[in-house]
This record gives sequence, C-alpha cells and structure tokens, in this order.
Amino acid sequence: MKLLLCPPTYYGIEYEINPWMSRSRQSDPEQARAQWDGLRRLLEEQLAVAIDVIEPQPGLPDMVFTANAGLAWNDKFIVSNFRHQVRRGEAAYFAQWFHRRGFTIIRLPPEMYFEGEGDLLKCGDSWFAGYHMRSDIVAHNKVAEIIDQEILSLELTSDWFYHLDTCFCPLRAGQALFYPAAFDSYGRKVLADNFSQLIAVTSEEAARFVCNAIVAADSIVLNDGCPKVRQQLEALGFSVFETPLSEFLKAGGSAKCLVLQIQ
Ligand code: ARG
Repeated sequence: MKLLLCPPTYYGIEYEINPWMSRSRQSDPEQARAQWDGLRRLLEEQLAVAIDVIEPQPGLPDMVFTANAGLAWNDKFIVSNFRHQVRRGEAAYFAQWFHRRGFTIIRLPPEMYFEGEGDLLKCGDSWFAGYHMRSDIVAHNKVAEIIDQEILSLELTSDWFYHLDTCFCPLRAGQALFYPAAFDSYGRKVLADNFSQLIAVTSEEAARFVCNAIVAADSIVLNDGCPKVRQQLEALGFSVFETPLSEFLKAGGSAKCLVLQIQ
C-alpha cells in the first residue's frame, strides 16, 4: 500500500465549510505538525506503508486532507471538483503531481461535484459513495463509468458527517464501522444488505472521528480516545494504533482524511 500525504505547513482554520470549523478555534501549528509527523511515522515504521508527499501550498489550508484530492485508480487519476470555492485551488496541484508521475488525468464536467476518496470507498470488490453534502450522485455515476465498476450511492443526512469517510469505514469484505445517524433508512439498508458484520459506533466516538480510520490489512490507525471501537476491532483480530489528531478534528478531519491511496 502506498499513500499520498501533504505536510500541514499552511494548515489552519481560515474559513468555515463544515460545522466542526470555527475561525475562533484555531489550530496550533506546532502541535499540528507534531501530530502529522506522528501519523506519518506510525504508518511508515509500524505499518510498513510507503509514503509519498506533495508540496503544500500557501493559501490552501485544507490541502493537508489529501483524501479529497480525487481518486487514483490504476493509471488514472480522477481529479476532484470541490464543492466549496475555497478548496478549488487544490485540484491543479494534485492534477500536476499525478500527471508528472505518469497518471492519465481525468476531469469530470465542472458542474458535477466530487471530493475523491473522502466520498468514495472500496470494500472487497464493492464501492460505496456518499452524496448530497459534498459529492453529487451524478458524479458517482460518471466515476462508475470511468472505472467500470458498480458504485452504491448512500445519501448523507447530517452536516457534521459531510463526507462518507467521516461516518463509514470498510474493514474487510463483509465488515465495516458506521455511524447510523449519518444515513437515511435507505442507506442503512444498503449497508445492512452488504455487510454481515456492521458495527454501529456511538455518537461520542463518531464525534472523535472513529470512522475516519486508515485500514492497512489487519492494522488500523485512528484518533485516540475511542475505547469501545478499539475493543470491537481487537475482537475481530485487528491491531489498533491510536494517535492524537485533535488539531485536525478542528477542521473536520482525522486519520483517513490525511491520506490518499495511490497504490
Ligand atoms: N476542512 C475540510 C473540509 O471541510 C476537511 C476535509 C476532511 N476530509 C475528509 N476526507 N473527510 O473540506
């Protein structure tokens, strides 16, 4: 597994595009850097994950959340169309990074919003996508055509859980974490039909971004302070690594948002 990360050099709470963000609750740059370094070290040293890094850009504080850059699929990179103007500048830097490494860059029609892996997750051979808050359902249909895979679309119903990766985490084929209150009854039914072991997380742990976990084979990395899920994951045979990511929660992100799978 290879992941793309972006150092938090220009990270900060400069605008408010989700309910977690408040300009009056700034992140501490040193603390953010230490937490990001800790995550990177954990991935490299304990999980033996390969890491690539993109150069951060001034004026793009959320570029650190590389999960939203797009979708890397074989030799293609489908670039995100960010819903919010303040994040749109990121797309060109990510497209350039992938282009230089030999990926074919694919752009969706500009009116179709799509926020990459933040809203599109693979589990076994199935794909799940969140829509309504950030990505559009028509964009999922277009991506499904491009990658020639079926995508099951799930409507997100809570502003607080605005990307699919904030409220759903595929673990292995048939196993996933989810926060029920973030979906409508149809979405919950789709998940129940596709996962024989669907672990509902509590609202306390959902708010600690427990679903925003990085899964690498039998290891899982998540924000600290989620003892219930930790126990449930260990019972399933996972090694759980908790790492403090409080500075990134202030922008509405955690472990999974900080990485994009590129291989
Ligand atoms: N502040 C960012 C935003 O609202 C956070 C993105 C978190 N990323 C994620 N994949 N959930 O766009």
